[in-house]
Amino acid sequence: MHLTREEEQVLEGEEGETLKKAMEILVALGDIYGAERLISISSAQIAGVSYKTIGEAGLEWISDLKGKVKVPSVLNPAGMDLVRWKEMGIDEEFAKKQLAIIEAYRRLGVSIECSCTPYQILEGVAKRGDHLAWSESSAVSFANSVIGARTNREGGPSALSAALVGKTPLYGYHLDQNRVPTHRMKVEADLEGSDYGALGALVGKMVGEGIPWFQLRRSPTRDELKSLGAAMAASGSVALYYFNEDAPTGSVDMEAISIRPGDIKEVYEKNRPDEDVDIIALGCPHCSPDELERLAHLLSKKTVKREFWICTSKRTRDLHPDLVEKIEKSGAKVFCDTCMVVSPASDRHRKMMTNSGKALAYIPGLCKIKAAFGTTEECVRVATEEVV
Ligand code: F3S
Repeated sequence: MHLTREEEQVLEGEEGETLKKAMEILVALGDIYGAERLISISSAQIAGVSYKTIGEAGLEWISDLKGKVKVPSVLNPAGMDLVRWKEMGIDEEFAKKQLAIIEAYRRLGVSIECSCTPYQILEGVAKRGDHLAWSESSAVSFANSVIGARTNREGGPSALSAALVGKTPLYGYHLDQNRVPTHRMKVEADLEGSDYGALGALVGKMVGEGIPWFQLRRSPTRDELKSLGAAMAASGSVALYYFNEDAPTGSVDMEAISIRPGDIKEVYEKNRPDEDVDIIALGCPHCSPDELERLAHLLSKKTVKREFWICTSKRTRDLHPDLVEKIEKSGAKVFCDTCMVVSPASDRHRKMMTNSGKALAYIPGLCKIKAAFGTTEECVRVATEEVV
């Protein structure tokens, strides 16, 4: 990979050990993937935050780094609500380690916004045509597909390295030739809300790392696209998709696949809730204000009978205290900075019900508990009724 004179000096350690390490990671990645050079990035979103996932080794690695990030940088969800962790059932020892990780990132100049949806909360964090170094697979998908920015699916160390250097190697989804659709998905069903999560759960498995181009019956909302991308990134490794008529031309040899109403219905049927469900968790990816509003409406005058978590960003929770109050009046809890998949608090349950295609795919493997799937209304019904 070609490096400028300044980049070489960083690699030789002239700007300190941390930047040297960061540059070594970027150069190694660039060499593996055949990048010609580094390009400047506009922002970084860094995974590897929950103590549950990075453990002691991760904490030590981040704590040893020095200096400041060069671009606006935010974090993925942590293993607990940074304030209300006791209410989640998190123990003191875990909390201490988790707060040490957060502090280490803060010292590096990273904003303590622990969310998988930075695009919902931070104006200008990603714009069409921007190059980014984002980690969280659902955020990567949203940035590439809905915003029209360009990012690979970075690991935690490579996103942090890119944040410290302000650059990332030019390969993968940063290049036009790797953004051409591979599958034409004709969706012959009328979809709404969590149906997009079900669609994503199916299509991710079908296309793997491919780039699907959806022909949909109507224009989805941003929240629906958020669910679709998240589910495809989890059931497959989709980091970019197109919807309706905005794909690049010249993609003629695409495999065509039809999705029928029965295919979507089957996702619900295979994952029906039963009496084992002892927790309902929504907000994967983190809830938007619209989604909180809907939940406040659905939970009005109701009382939850099972543990019910709603995950969102701290900024969204702080900006909408009225909605949070309405939701929590039912006994549901609005947690922020964290999520049901990366928090160890999920692991002590038996079976989690969700409206998210991504959580459905990840809960069994990462939390080692069973998962059920339903619409948002069904999730509220199961949470508020004695019998499933
Ligand atoms: Fe976000 Fe956690 Fe889901 S990071 S996308 S809420 S698994």
